[in-house]
Amino acid sequence: MLRIVHGSDIHFGRPHDPAMARAFLEATLERSPDLLVLSGDFTQRAKVAEFREARSWLDGLPRDLPIVVTPGNHDVPLWRVAERLLSPFRNYRRFIHPELDRVTRVPGATVVSLNSAAPRRAITNGRLGSRQLEFARRAFDASPPEDVRILVAHHHLAPAPDYQGDRPLPRARQILEALESMGVQLVLGGHLHRAYIGNSLDVHPGADRNRGIVIVQSGTTTSRRGRAREQEKNSFNEIRVEGARIEVEHLMHFREDGGFRPFSHHVFPRPPFSWLGQDGTAAPGGGKVA
Ligand SMILES: [Fe+2]
Repeated sequence: MLRIVHGSDIHFGRPHDPAMARAFLEATLERSPDLLVLSGDFTQRAKVAEFREARSWLDGLPRDLPIVVTPGNHDVPLWRVAERLLSPFRNYRRFIHPELDRVTRVPGATVVSLNSAAPRRAITNGRLGSRQLEFARRAFDASPPEDVRILVAHHHLAPAPDYQGDRPLPRARQILEALESMGVQLVLGGHLHRAYIGNSLDVHPGADRNRGIVIVQSGTTTSRRGRAREQEKNSFNEIRVEGARIEVEHLMHFREDGGFRPFSHHVFPRPPFSWLGQDGTAAPGGGKVA
């Protein structure tokens, strides 16, 4: 079984809650995951002091734990306009990771993390470009067929289902179709500051309406800026991939209870879909096809 802990929107700076960061670290250690994914917004204003704190917190995680990181829109300067235009990722590269688009391989999974922050083209929203999708395609083409293929990006590809706005990435539908053609099974992100756990078929039928991609957004794990249903709340996800199942547990922090506790549990099928025929049509009676 592959176990992933997925948190997001750490936001060192004014919104950061150190007690929550400690609680999250404790919860992560308890689960001893194979992989930790942190899907962007390590800082509030991309200041050196904030990045230093973020680095020191990351250094407190177990040395042998593989970690996937990706930048968020708060990891580039907002008001320092010259820096935003000329070297927006300088501090991120120096303190968090030198690469913005990355491939991480662990036994059973190929993870491509793409930088969706677009400081020259968007303030809050982001972009994913065709070169980045080609980068992802090459990485997935080279991955073992049995691997679960995971894409990580800070910005979301499906709208939050709560009528609060927050437009998804431009070209989200085309991006989902491209990811579907690459065999991506799981997309992890943040940005919304509340969780959303669903399937791409909820928002876009795509080319293959039998499959779809599991979409997992994390709330803000350690900041005081939870939004909508997670206002004043913090959350993260535990994802377990085993055989033909992807299980996602959404955990929220309850102060009264002193820790992160399971709040909802989701189970999705993953390929090979044993109840589908060779040609992708449903097998008679939904039974297993030999
Ligand atoms: Fe954020």
